[in-house]
Amino acid sequence: MTARTSISTRIAIVGGGPAGLLLSHLLRRSGIENVVLELRDREYAIQRVRAGVLENDAAQLLTDVGLGERLHREGERHDGIYLQYAGQRHHVPFRELVGRSVWLYSQQEVVKDLIEAHDEAGTPPRYGVSDIELAGLEGDGPATVRFSHEGEEFELSADFVVGADGAHGVCRPSIPESAKKTYEREYPFGWLGILAHVAPSTDELIYSLHERGFAMHSMRSHTVSRLYLQVDPHDDVANWSDERIWEELDIRLGTEGWTLHHGEIFDKSITPMRSFVSDPMRFGKLFLAGDSAHIVPPTGAKGLNLALADASYLHDVLVAWYRDGDGAGLDEYSPRSLERVWKIQHFSTWMTRMLHRFSESAETDQPGAGEFDYQVQLGQLRQLCTSDHGMAQLAEVYTGLPFLTYPSEH
Ligand code: PHB
Repeated sequence: MTARTSISTRIAIVGGGPAGLLLSHLLRRSGIENVVLELRDREYAIQRVRAGVLENDAAQLLTDVGLGERLHREGERHDGIYLQYAGQRHHVPFRELVGRSVWLYSQQEVVKDLIEAHDEAGTPPRYGVSDIELAGLEGDGPATVRFSHEGEEFELSADFVVGADGAHGVCRPSIPESAKKTYEREYPFGWLGILAHVAPSTDELIYSLHERGFAMHSMRSHTVSRLYLQVDPHDDVANWSDERIWEELDIRLGTEGWTLHHGEIFDKSITPMRSFVSDPMRFGKLFLAGDSAHIVPPTGAKGLNLALADASYLHDVLVAWYRDGDGAGLDEYSPRSLERVWKIQHFSTWMTRMLHRFSESAETDQPGAGEFDYQVQLGQLRQLCTSDHGMAQLAEVYTGLPFLTYPSEH
């Protein structure tokens, strides 16, 4: 048996996605030593295609902590979205309604900026670790994270462990079943997402409810468009030729006098959709952040923003603990985060139900009731798009509920 190498730090962060990397960056700036462990390699982290919308406060936070340079150069501020139904497109003017905007800047780019900042600081994450095991989460001694890296076995001891290792990571399962409750809902559809080399055909994102299903037009740059179609979650991308995809997008996004530009599709995938929450987000010395604690369906693009919000708040409560010995923040992290998470779950569920076709009633599973629900959805969208109050409610949450801070301002 080879001996384990013992190392130690203040905060062991498992997971090098946006939540883990941002938390590490914030802690380093506050002088709190930490280590990030990531199973995958650096290329995977940089290549992973995810959503592209940053809330007002998320963009502000990144800017405040020295990560805003490329965001402001290459990202784009968007002051609204289009909602489309029954072939008609309606603008929801966020800035007029609530005085805030969002930024189109993809998760990949945020991760790239964070990795660069870590490299510059000389504290790169450890990539390609394996066999991660957590111990000592309860009781007085330090928590430990065992792992293998480059053929060597390590035992990392830390004051706290942060599980930022996503929905399928090892951290959440380290909380005993008896100590947690999980809430879950699967949707009877997924999103077929494509990236195409073609200038966006729209100035704002389009969310469209069509009788054949949801479709959406987003973008990544002046030359790259991102588009989505509601499909069967078990469908195979092989069934979707480029031609069929453009044909379907033309139908579902079509409006009088508007043309969707087609281009070379260079990425294609189908993602099933689900909602998930694990409660609590803390177990002893383990804190969960981001997808390890909660998953939202992508309608409304909240996943990345929730992860950044968790990291920011967790940073605050950890700083209060190290600077002032104030443990109240550590105790409020889970309950206050979850209150916010459930508001966002509400928003994501609401957007998803309003904009997708259900073949059965969402409430009763009654076959055929989906037709009734579709008419209700059209009524809902008509009401929303003709009411400043309705649109303002959407705008308020889409542009982002305030990030939690500690000590709290109220
Ligand atoms: C995206 O650009 O990938 C995107 C944008 C908005 C959403 C979901 C995804 O609601």
